[in-house]
Amino acid sequence: MAAGLTIRAAWPSVAVILSTATFAQMAAAHDHHEGVSHIAEGETVSQEPIDTTLWVHIFVQMLAYGVIFPIGMVLGITKSRWHVPTQILGTLLAILGFFLGHAHGGREFVGGNIHSIFSHILQITLAAQVVLGLYLKLHWEKGFNGKIRKLIRPFHSVIGKAMPILSWTQMLFGGITTLGFCQGDHVGQCAAHFIMGSAFIAYGILLAITLLVGQIWIRRCGRSQEFIDSAVIAAWGCVNTFTEHRWGTAWVKNDWQHTTMGIIWWCAGLAGMWLSRDRDGNPKRNFIPGFVILMTGWAMSAHPQELMVSAATHAMFGYTLMAVGVTRIIEIAFVLRDKHSLDEDGRSWNSFQYVPIFLLYAAGFLFMGATEEQMDLVANSPMDHVSYILILYSLAFLVFLFSNMLIGLYDRLANPLSNAKKFGAANGHLNGHLAEEGQIRSAEEFELDGLMSDDEGDERRGMLRRSGDDSSLDTPSTVGKNNVNTV
Ligand code: HEM
Ligand code: HEM
Repeated sequence: MAAGLTIRAAWPSVAVILSTATFAQMAAAHDHHEGVSHIAEGETVSQEPIDTTLWVHIFVQMLAYGVIFPIGMVLGITKSRWHVPTQILGTLLAILGFFLGHAHGGREFVGGNIHSIFSHILQITLAAQVVLGLYLKLHWEKGFNGKIRKLIRPFHSVIGKAMPILSWTQMLFGGITTLGFCQGDHVGQCAAHFIMGSAFIAYGILLAITLLVGQIWIRRCGRSQEFIDSAVIAAWGCVNTFTEHRWGTAWVKNDWQHTTMGIIWWCAGLAGMWLSRDRDGNPKRNFIPGFVILMTGWAMSAHPQELMVSAATHAMFGYTLMAVGVTRIIEIAFVLRDKHSLDEDGRSWNSFQYVPIFLLYAAGFLFMGATEEQMDLVANSPMDHVSYILILYSLAFLVFLFSNMLIGLYDRLANPLSNAKKFGAANGHLNGHLAEEGQIRSAEEFELDGLMSDDEGDERRGMLRRSGDDSSLDTPSTVGKNNVNTV
């Protein structure tokens, strides 16, 4: 018994010693940077394959920063009691991944690479976030501590929401470091592809958030979606007009295309802002942002390329972007018929509305996957451009799925009442019947709406009412209300 107690008492110190020893060993293993370099002259990585430690590092960090922290962030925003346990699990994995990153053997990488530099920034941010989080968790809400808490909360909130963006950046840095890409002359091109590609994906994510949980918000904010989009396009265009060519020097390479693209962006953006109000000053939808994307896609698809695979990938990127533009215009003008959302309650959407959103993700991945070095890699491999493009589309689907899952999680936790009502209505026996009936009715009404004018609509609705076998059921819209009331 006494022996058992001693062992138990001694356990923490044993654990500390053991882990210190392991970390010391790992740190020693990291010495390869200071030893003789195996990187050949003019190369950016050595010839050796990536070792298991580094593979595990990649997997663990992607799991921690790419999956667990973002889930934890949503749990934090929705004040779930699972927030802290989730982030603690993520933090433990991140610590493990950190040491694995330092302990790897196998392939060597140039010293002072961007991934290892940025890892310090991310690591310090995470440490700060955990310390702030633990302080918040103590719930000292009175007196002086209460005042400090009020200060700390916004910090934890802002850093928390910035974490997925920082993590995304670090994962991209990890990818280019592993392959030894984007060094020297390639930096500018890489930055252009990764920033623009990520921006397309971010735009897709923002549109998905607005569609799934922000319809009411956008209606209340007093501006149409196109006003915001056009303003961003105009601002971005201004920047590109003056930064894509070094003024006062000769016009080289693609300077003309990039600068004129900047010009059309701000010209069109201003027009888009103007069209965002109707004659009474109410927010109005318009075609401009979709059209700008269409033009950008066309310009991109015509960008001259040397390699066949590069030309094919750029062409596919351009077509995808053009498809975003066309489908967005169709969505606004014909699916939504200029309305801000499909239904009054802002809870539903038409499947078509997902098309431009997904294509934005796909365009982003295609562009990010089309730097010179990546294209060389594919051209020198047995893979053809079709397989490469399919891989990029698959990645787009995965990120599309995951972001939709996060938005769904947020929706469930943030709007439990309305979801429970729907859920209850769909599950209750009688209510289920009514809900189904209501859904069929609204579906019918929606389809008919597309085919008839307003006057005809009233007439048709009357017919629908008469043909209903349950006389207690009024118009389809009240069926919906009945369901809600009976839960
Ligand atoms: C492991 C240590 C962590 C602890 C103990 C912790 C604790 C907390 C607590 C107690 C809150 C609620 C604050 C309040 O409502 O007054 C909170 C909110 C939040 N946390 Fe954490 N957290 C941790 C890590 C993280 C990380 C790593 C992230 C980001 C990836 C994060 C993101 C957030 C967000 C976005 C909120 C919502 C803030 C808001 O109301 O806008 N937390 N956290
Ligand atoms: C966001 C998650 C990640 C974090 C926080 C992270 C952090 C780190 C850290 C701290 C190191 C040690 C740096 C040093 O040697 O000074 C490292 C090394 C490394 N990581 Fe990551 N990493 C992440 C994701 C990835 C991913 C996704 C990849 C690859 C696809 C990757 C590839 C590498 C490589 C190749 C090294 C070795 C660099 C070298 O030896 O100089 N990492 N990482």
